[in-house]
Amino acid sequence: MALSSKITGVGSFVPERVVTNHDLEKMMNTSDEWIQQRTGIVERRWVDANTSTSDLALKASVEAIENAGIDKNDLDMIIFATLSPDHDFPGAGCFLQDKLGVPGIPTLDIRQQCTGFLYAMSIADKFIKSGSNKNILVIGAEIHSKGLDRSPEGRNVGVLFGDGAGAIVMSATDVKDDKADSHIINCHLHCDGSYAKELWLPGPGTGFNSENRCDQKMLDEGLHFPQMNGKVVFVNAVKKMSQSLINLCKESEVKFEDIDLFLFHQANLRINSKLAEMMGIPEEKVFNTIQKYGNTTAATIPLGMHDAVKEGKLKPGMLVASAAFGSGFTWASSLYRF
Ligand code: UT7
Repeated sequence: MALSSKITGVGSFVPERVVTNHDLEKMMNTSDEWIQQRTGIVERRWVDANTSTSDLALKASVEAIENAGIDKNDLDMIIFATLSPDHDFPGAGCFLQDKLGVPGIPTLDIRQQCTGFLYAMSIADKFIKSGSNKNILVIGAEIHSKGLDRSPEGRNVGVLFGDGAGAIVMSATDVKDDKADSHIINCHLHCDGSYAKELWLPGPGTGFNSENRCDQKMLDEGLHFPQMNGKVVFVNAVKKMSQSLINLCKESEVKFEDIDLFLFHQANLRINSKLAEMMGIPEEKVFNTIQKYGNTTAATIPLGMHDAVKEGKLKPGMLVASAAFGSGFTWASSLYRF
């Protein structure tokens, strides 16, 4: 028997407002045809003005806790992955903890963008395996709509991202049969900071030759909007996600053909098709949600997990592989028996 962690509950929440590619045609110099052909995205969700990231996270968390069959007071930690926190500080986990009504337990914000949820899962796994924690709430939640350039100039980034939240409860478990029992098998985490400026949000920040972390010049230059070199991101995403997954499976002595479902990050349908093609994975084993949510960065994998369960494509006992890539550059992969 070995002490491990497993996913015991999953929840998700997306705002009601659906924004189609045709809606974006009215704001930006873009077209439904371009967006679908280049990315696979058909629509995404946007919040209303008075919703914050921790509000979305709260709804997903309540569902995950209920599905885990525990009381919220059984939680002993919150790990919150987001690049779009309610405020710069304190972390979004603090706001969520208050809204959830679980004072006293530690909260940790993870700032690893699209890879954030896999980093959070891996950290939770380590805390549980060390014996110090029993039930950890792990969240990925994002509000992109409030931070995008929605003017005609914003099209190269603005059409890609959407809002949403996903949450899981990870709990301690004793694994007797590692080929059958639900547990996190292995995770690999990576980063190469030399690519940091290929996909980033420069301002506000202290990395400018300025006495103020936010000034009018930054706003005038649009440095408070995400900047991306799409082609460099695309090429590296395919390369790094496949490498990470191949190494992870090799180290874990798992064959690709034994994996039941692939829950990849959703940045571009073409990235995931290329990954599947390169690794010889049948398309039907890759669960994609980008068509309806766009790229929801840290929320993407738990949102997909929730939808896959709802659609009967992810069932207890299945062997699952996830991989993600994003700003940093950061990338990660994870193998788990659901
Ligand atoms: O989670 C990690 C975050 N992001 C990613 O992983 C994104 C990775 N990159 C990509 O998915 C793709 O590079 C994009 C979808 C962002 C762009 O696709 P692309 O095939 O690399 O297009 P491109 O940037 O080379 O642009 C092709 C053309 C350009 O026009 P010209 O120069 O050929 O006349 C762009 O100006 O498409 C134009 N364009 C658009 N046209 C209509 C760029 N964005 C748009 C748009 N609507 N939204």
